Amino acid sequence: MNNLTTLEQEIFAKFSQLESKESLEKLKIEILGKKGTLSKLFQDLATIDKEKKKEFASQLNILKTRVLEQFSILHTKFEQEEIQKKLENQTIDISLSAPTKPQGKIHPVSQVIDELTCIFAELGFSVAEGPDIENQYNNFTALNTPPNHPARDMHDTFYLDEQKELLMRTHTSPVQIRTMLNEKPPLKIIAPGRTYRCDSDQTHTPMFHQLEGLYVDQNITMADLRGCLDYFLKKFFEVDQIKMRFRPSHFPFTEPSAEVDIGYEIKNGKITIGQGDQWLEILGCGMVHPNVLKNAKVDTKKYQGYAFGVGIDRLAMLKYGINDLRSFFDSDVRWLKHFGFNANDVPTNYRGLSK
Ligand code: DAH
Repeated sequence: MNNLTTLEQEIFAKFSQLESKESLEKLKIEILGKKGTLSKLFQDLATIDKEKKKEFASQLNILKTRVLEQFSILHTKFEQEEIQKKLENQTIDISLSAPTKPQGKIHPVSQVIDELTCIFAELGFSVAEGPDIENQYNNFTALNTPPNHPARDMHDTFYLDEQKELLMRTHTSPVQIRTMLNEKPPLKIIAPGRTYRCDSDQTHTPMFHQLEGLYVDQNITMADLRGCLDYFLKKFFEVDQIKMRFRPSHFPFTEPSAEVDIGYEIKNGKITIGQGDQWLEILGCGMVHPNVLKNAKVDTKKYQGYAFGVGIDRLAMLKYGINDLRSFFDSDVRWLKHFGFNANDVPTNYRGLSK
């Protein structure tokens, strides 16, 4: 009995000196390992005579339980301390600046499309879409450009089959046809999108972007067209006045047709749009040809309309001083970093388009 009490005191004295999980494990082996102090006493039970054996075994078991309990308490304690230490060493310094992540930019073409959508939305135009792969009927025939019409040759078309039935649309004008066939007038749409022609140099790429405009209603005149274009160009170039002239032209799908020039000047290597003695061709337009309206099942006695088509990439080049059209499609991240726009600066009419 006495022996066991002394042993318990000794063991608990050792417990009180422990400082780590490792020393605890060591002590556990010392006491409960194969040759451990307590294990030995259990082995000695065999040699004790029967009467004392029961009592001793019971005391021994009580001691073992207490020791095991203490082991478990200390084990938890050391583990908690370890976690605490780790947490203290791993504190995050929130005053450090965040690591710089690569930041995406909005491509000038996307920016200009957003700007145009904004401007025309203010005038009541909604956005219409059509597929890049068109049939020759929508791209040409319905637009009053029958087979063998010379205008077809000028478009350097990418045909997709031998019958020349399917093609990559050469302009966004077929969206006019799709819209008029699907909806009833009054119609007021813009259609921005990709267009394709077999052409490539500093100012031409096989894929480029156009924006088509179409307004069909009663009593629409050239004056409405001019007013709309004047407003759009002033807003787009963010100027108060814009010198603009209509030059007679020809498109199969409009009658009369015009090309629109805007005034500009270059001073100290910098281009100013809207004033000056030089003229810059900017877009094509006209009153929708009655044949086009008829092909699109619009009642020509009741309705007429105006249409226009403008090159989006060219607008972006002029507004943002980009010289080579091909650079738009190089996928050069350095170029995009320089000419691109912040994704959070969405163009709006009230806050400004590009500022
Ligand atoms: N589709 C013409 C082109 O690609 C541009 C154009 C001119 C569109 C006059 C029009 C328009 O809607 O009225 O060259």
